[in-house]
Amino acid sequence: MNLKEDVGIKAASYVKDGMTVGLGTGSTAYYMIKEIGRKIKEEKLNVVGVPTSTISKQQAAEIGIPIKSIDEVKKVDLIIDGADEINTDYQGIKGGGAALLFEKIVATYTDQVIWIVDESKMVNKLGEFPLPVEVIPYGQHQLFHLFAQKGYHPSFRMENDQMKVTDSGHSIIDLNLTQIDHPEKLAKELDETVGVVEHGLFLNMVNTVIIGRQSGAQIVSN
Ligand code: A5P
Repeated sequence: MNLKEDVGIKAASYVKDGMTVGLGTGSTAYYMIKEIGRKIKEEKLNVVGVPTSTISKQQAAEIGIPIKSIDEVKKVDLIIDGADEINTDYQGIKGGGAALLFEKIVATYTDQVIWIVDESKMVNKLGEFPLPVEVIPYGQHQLFHLFAQKGYHPSFRMENDQMKVTDSGHSIIDLNLTQIDHPEKLAKELDETVGVVEHGLFLNMVNTVIIGRQSGAQIVSN
């Protein structure tokens, strides 16, 4: 069974006629976008998608989902998005696809947040997955050294031998922390660090998690 496809399709069943839906980014979210496209065509659903990246915008457009930007809608009813790690308190790390900034903005202004993951993403403690930190290019090497001094083992996100540039023109520094003992404390510290635009700790944000398991999807309300 393709667990990502399974949860993507299940999540799309939360999308009802007339809704404005945040479209997450990643290989799991892609299945949800495809399924919403199918529902629009076959069930004549009237839905508007709010993409969280250039990639999800392209996917939605190709699949035939009408799209609007976050600033063109009155409100977003629901966002369905992937995640890179989720701990037992349903706190998450996101940004493996470099879309964390728009994902966090759309989630912040959305009534209901659903994450869809396969079971490999469920962990006891966050941090094995490198924590993405989106930074302004100006001063980024200073910030890198600061993180190194703190023992956060930073690395610049690269793409084709170049520094990755996000949809907003920023860079990503991944923190190779191995484990994060106090996510709230770290989130606060990063929020207060000059030059940091956003980080991939998504704390107290999710309402429902759909976990793809070989034994069948598990739906958890937070
Ligand atoms: C995008 O920036 C991330 O937050 C994704 O949601 C995350 O990387 C999940 O991607 P996959 O579904 O491809 O694992």
